[in-house]
Amino acid sequence: MESYIAEWLNLLFRWLHLITGAAWIGTSFYFNWLNHNLRPPSQQSRKDEGINGELFAVHGGHFYQVSKYGGAPEKLPETLHWFKWEAYFTWITGFSLISIVYYWGARAFLIDPSVMAWEQTWQPIALSLSSLIGGWIVYDLLCKSPLGRKPVPFAIVGFSLMTLIAYGLTQVFAARAAYIHVGAMMGTMMAANVFFVIIPNQRKMVDAMSAGLEPDIALGEKGAQRSLHNNYFTLPVLFIMVSNHFSMTTYGHEWNWAILAALSLIGAGARHYFNLKHKGQHKEWILPVAALAMISLAFVTKPAPIQPVKLSAGQAEAKLYYSDIKPILEKHCVSCHMEPPNNPLWPMPTPPKGINLSIAESVKNHASQIMAQAVNSQTMPLANQTNMTVEERAKLGQWIQQGALLDGEKP
Ligand code: HEC
Repeated sequence: MESYIAEWLNLLFRWLHLITGAAWIGTSFYFNWLNHNLRPPSQQSRKDEGINGELFAVHGGHFYQVSKYGGAPEKLPETLHWFKWEAYFTWITGFSLISIVYYWGARAFLIDPSVMAWEQTWQPIALSLSSLIGGWIVYDLLCKSPLGRKPVPFAIVGFSLMTLIAYGLTQVFAARAAYIHVGAMMGTMMAANVFFVIIPNQRKMVDAMSAGLEPDIALGEKGAQRSLHNNYFTLPVLFIMVSNHFSMTTYGHEWNWAILAALSLIGAGARHYFNLKHKGQHKEWILPVAALAMISLAFVTKPAPIQPVKLSAGQAEAKLYYSDIKPILEKHCVSCHMEPPNNPLWPMPTPPKGINLSIAESVKNHASQIMAQAVNSQTMPLANQTNMTVEERAKLGQWIQQGALLDGEKP
């Protein structure tokens, strides 16, 4: 029952997280685009009103005219839209998801005893919380330090620190959790930038203007610095958020932290291309180089071929049949992957992802996924609860490589 409720909550918060995240990133992309496409107004009367950029657009059958003021309008309108709840709700739903999946399900998703055998579940949960809070504090201090005013050195130091953190987290959490934590740390910085810097500074500027005073430009600059960081974080964070669909190529790989760093760099690079393009600088080589980098990454992280195991000494490569690997599946997989599942530690109503590994044909049909989850990467069995050995994985891999032959089946 408990896991059934967790599953529904997971669905609800994931859905909300996607909706609010799309709204947040959507507005952020829109305003970026807007800023770079505004053109000085042609009519003098509009210039006299203090407008220094305008843009006409058509969308959904309606025509729009957007005007941007050089400073502030003489009189503020009654309703001024702020764009902050998208950010706050993205963080709130994201944190709820972490709590449901990784805190409530700590034994299944946060802890991997082969990485670190935490005795109490509160220990890694406390570490998770401190990483989110500590990450923000360090980042915020760096922004306020002299380094914060130098974009390129700041990017280099920030990227190196994040890579170090990614490496560190893969040494203490289950790989999938380590990945999500890097993303959650960056997402927390982004939302906290909005909450602690961008919005309060905007508010101070608006208050000054309402009081007829000249707003402090430095406040706007501090906000702009954080906006710029958020902009570069977007694509890497989006990648990390979907990374848990790619266990073999990303978090399940032995170089998982380096793959995370490389893909983040590629994502930020692609973002850089669009930022430059919006400024009228066409660095056309960036996207092909990013694509090439991604192909090279796929190439260099290709899984090593599986060493065929010998069933008994002196025998060459043995031909394996289903009955040879059935005991392995029974020992390590079927407690969860059967209908209905019967795993006392993780009660669940139906086999995860509908994958039933107690039926020979079903095992054969899922051979390539099994290869991905239990041979090329070690994401299954979950948390390696049953201590599946390298030899068992190799044997399973060998059976699949030989064509996943059922008993009596001809190759
Ligand atoms: C303790 C329970 C448990 C055990 C034991 C277990 N699994 Fe899983 N398996 C899961 C869960 C939960 C998921 C869904 C994970 C997710 O949502 O990403 C899953 C997903 C999978 C998937 C689908 C992955 C995908 O996203 O395509 C495969 C394949 C798989 N398991 C194979 C295996 C194999 C092979 C074994 C034994 C070596 C095994 N599992 C042992 C719980 C288990």
